[in-house]
Formats: sequence, C-alpha cells, structure tokens
Amino acid sequence: MIAVTTMRTMCLFLIVFAVSAHGQEPILNFQNRFLPEVARNGMIASPEKLAAEAGVDILRRGGNAIDAAVATGFALAVTYPRAGNLGGGGFMLIHLEEADRQTFIDYRETAPAAAHRNMFINEEGAVDRNLEFFSHQSAGVPGSVAGMIHALEKYGTMSLRQVLQPAIELADKGFPISFALDSELAGRQERLLKNPEAKRLFFQEDGSRHPVGDILRQPDLAWTLKQIRKRGSKGFYEGAVAERIVADMQANNGLITLEDLAGYQVVEREPVRGSFRDFEIVSAPPPSSGGVHIVQILNILEDYPLLEWGHNSAAYLHHLAEAMKLAYADRSRYLGDPAYSDVPVEKLTDKAYATRLRQLIKPDQATPAESIRPGAVMVSESHDTTHFTVADSQGNVVSNTYTLNFSFGSHIAVPGTGVLLNNEMADFAAQPGTPNAFKLVEGEANSIEAGKRPLSSMSPTIVFRDGEPWLATGSPGGSRIITAVLQTTINAMAFDMNIASAAAAARVHHQWLPDVLLLERGVSIDTRRLLEAKGHTLGDTRRTIGRTQSIVIEDGLLYGATDTRRPGGWVAGY
Ligand code: DON
Repeated sequence: MIAVTTMRTMCLFLIVFAVSAHGQEPILNFQNRFLPEVARNGMIASPEKLAAEAGVDILRRGGNAIDAAVATGFALAVTYPRAGNLGGGGFMLIHLEEADRQTFIDYRETAPAAAHRNMFINEEGAVDRNLEFFSHQSAGVPGSVAGMIHALEKYGTMSLRQVLQPAIELADKGFPISFALDSELAGRQERLLKNPEAKRLFFQEDGSRHPVGDILRQPDLAWTLKQIRKRGSKGFYEGAVAERIVADMQANNGLITLEDLAGYQVVEREPVRGSFRDFEIVSAPPPSSGGVHIVQILNILEDYPLLEWGHNSAAYLHHLAEAMKLAYADRSRYLGDPAYSDVPVEKLTDKAYATRLRQLIKPDQATPAESIRPGAVMVSESHDTTHFTVADSQGNVVSNTYTLNFSFGSHIAVPGTGVLLNNEMADFAAQPGTPNAFKLVEGEANSIEAGKRPLSSMSPTIVFRDGEPWLATGSPGGSRIITAVLQTTINAMAFDMNIASAAAAARVHHQWLPDVLLLERGVSIDTRRLLEAKGHTLGDTRRTIGRTQSIVIEDGLLYGATDTRRPGGWVAGY
C-alpha cells in the first residue's frame, strides 16, 4: 500500500514537472504498460526456456557472455528445432567490454560449388518453388557450428566440452515437450511428415504428435554434438557427420559435397555503424541488409518531431512507412554478398543521402511504390529464424540471430545426425526481378553464384548511449526483421518506452514491393482511416511482425524482455 501511494505521488510529481518543463499540457503519448524482467549479474533473453537457463548456468559458473551465447546456441538446436540449429547459419554481434570494441561474426551459409544462377528455373522459365524451398538443393553449406566455435575460441573463456554439455544432456536425456513446441510441430506437421527422417525425429510411428509433456529424446543429435565435442569444427565439417550429410545429398540430388563442407569459412566483419540523435547504432553489415537499412531509416526519421506526432499516430506511421519504402527499394538494387558485388554501405548510411531521401517524402501523401527508383538521389561523390541476447557481469553483450530460413528449414533431416537442413538458398534471387519467398524483389547483386552468401535481413543490433551498450535486440521474421528491430529501438530511443513496452507495441511494415502497408493489431481504426486517406494500401492484420528478444542495461541493472507475440520465450537472469 505504501509502495502504491509512493508511486502515485511520484507520477503526479512527474506530470507536474512535465507540464512546467513544456509550459503546456504534457505529451503523454505512451504508457509503459509492460514490465521487463530485472537482474543484476547476467541475463539471456531467448525464444525458449531450457536453452536460456543453460546459458545462465554458464554465466553463474563464471563464463562470459560469449560462452553463454554459444551454450544457448547449441542448446536451442535441441530444444527449439524450428530455428535453433546446427544445419543453418547466422550472425553474432559482440560487444567486448574490456577492449571496448564490437565485432561481427558472419557464419551465414554459402552456395555450394555446384550451385548456379538458374538452378531453380524450370523448363517453362519459371521458378520451381518446391525445388527452391523444400528440396536438398534448398540447402546452403551450413555455418552455425563453425560460427559458434569461432566465437568461443576467439572470445570465450570456457572449453567446447563445457559449453556443449547442456545441449548434449538435453539431446541425450530429452526434455518434456512444451505447449509451444507442440504448436510449432503442429503448424509444420504435414510438411515434416513428408521426410521420413524428420517424421522419425519429431513424431510417433503413425505420424501423430507426441502428447505434450512426453520426453523428446534426440540420440542422433546427441551423437552429432559428441562428434563436435571430440573434434571441434572437424567433427561436423569432416568425418562421419559430413559423410552422412553428403550421402543424403547424393541420394537426393543435393549439391553439397565433402569439399564444400571442409571449405566453409567464417568471416569476421566490421559492423555497420550509425547514429540516431544521442544514440549510436551498431548492427549487421552485408551480407545482411539489416544494419544498412536500420541506419538509413533512422537517418531519415531523425529530424522529424516524432514525440510530438505521437507513437503510432498517422503522421508518424506515414513517415515511417515512406522511409521504409525508400530503404527497401535501395535494398532491391544494391544489397548482396560484398565479396561478389560492391555494396555502397557508406553512401546508403550517409546522413546527407538521408536528407535527400527525406525530400522525396510528402507529408500527406503516400508515394506509389512504382514511382520510387532505387538510388535516384544517390550522388557519386561521396535482407524461421531466432534471436537471443546475452549480457554478462563484465559488460560484454552478445546479440545473435541464426536460422534455418523457414521454420524447420527445408523440413528435411539428414539420416543418423538429428540435423535439419536449411533452405537458405531461397534467400537468393532465384530469378532476379521476381519476388522471393518473402515477396522481396532483388537484383543481380543477389543472384545465385557458387560460394556466395545469400542476402539476409537478420539484424542483431546493439544501441549505445554515452558510449556504453544500452539496448541489444534482434528478431526473426524474414523481410520484417529489419522493421521489427527498427521499431523496437525507436520506441525506446524516441518514445521513451521501457524495453518490454517497446517490444510489445504494435508494429508496421512496408517493404516497397508489394506496395502494401502491413499493420499489426493494435493500431487504432481512426489511424488506419487517416493512413488510407493519405493513399496507403493497408494489408491484413492477422500476421505478426517479428519476435524480438531484448536486453537494456541501465544504472547497473539488466532489463530483459521476450516478445509477447509468440509463446515459450524466456528471460533468465541472476
Ligand atoms: O536471412 C534471412 O533474412 C532469412 N533467411 C530469415 C528467415 C526468417 O526470419 C524466417 N522467420 N520467421
């Protein structure tokens, strides 16, 4: 009771202060109605509870954020098979407190040597979507195992044996099937049952689902994890595991060879950097499009009176959507693997370029997508996935997004390994100029070439305030990743929301083509009408946009928020 009275008095004080500070009515745009979890020493925000707890256990035993991230990454491959993986790839953004620097570990899949530009085009000249999405040819050479081991060896403090142990135990002993896992398997049951090995891994003999609460054991996956424990990266990329992958490829017209696996390389890159008002943004560079376009959209929005317009007001959403369109138009033309084409990162993230782009935005009228030409004002002088975020007691932060592409990837499991194959080859432009799986139109920069990394939208991001890591987040969601991460950060930076509210607030998404503005449920009907009056075509509101896992570090405390859009997420801290 005392606490409640004190809170009320404080709120009253704050309102009076706000009135006098502005000399007018306070602008109370948004109430922080969702509360984050709080801890002091270490925290993991993850899409699944057991993997989060595995990571926090590593932190408690003295491991750093990288040790914990790698332990969680391997554990999610067991407990969250829709996106946690050994057979996929991803990106890890790390802030190293002692060295006061950030680094980006790119462990994205690569196209096998036998891949070629028209590999998914059928005799009629159209893209064969089944071949592209659900065949052995859908798979790129996996990067996750190499990426996790690279991060551990270079920046971790524990042994591979220590960080693999939780995953091995979860696979060997099994864990109870949660309602969340059951619903994920239900959503993909029909397709998974088409692959006998995936059926054997996740379903009963008659193809029905195991009852919720039954123990799911994955002995083949435990075997694979033990090969990795014994031989490090070579335990996956060479020897018995690699031979099983290649045998399955050969039996099913797949392209991945022993040479492709042995030749897989992690690339460590400089992150993309930008700023928004007093905040610094550090995010994903190409072959992700995420960081570039988050920075670009923030640059465009920076000088607008966002707080005055109000969170999710028609004025704000209009300008946000227009900025998104301009950025995704540029994405279609310029973004791809930087080893294969020049990606003008500096130009695209330049404030002056954003100023010119801002001039193309009409305050009251939506610009039709077809009239937007990518890069028109660029001057020559000057892209189911999952995310988890870790913070440790020493100030290190890890923001990691990794994926099989679709939920359960290609829905194909390699016999005897417990490993699901990704379908990341679908992230290439199978036919430049025609929309891909996420309806994104992409160009030559993202055509299929041997060895190339497909363009991604995964955007692990860390926002700095006063030179210190303040907010770390990331999301699944295909093309919607960029806009989900963007809005989570803007909500915290510009609208002063706590991290749980920033993550929960309704999101919007526009990706230039199709020329449709998607609004989640929760945007008011009158705002919808005002947006339509400005010429926006609104999409349906049934699907959600992204699923962030976020941590904010403030005043020596860690505030964590798992997105409320999907069940099963967990913030573990101590
Ligand atoms: O790298 C990318 O952008 C995609 N493969 C991500 C796919 C994804 O997020 C699907 N999940 N909802």
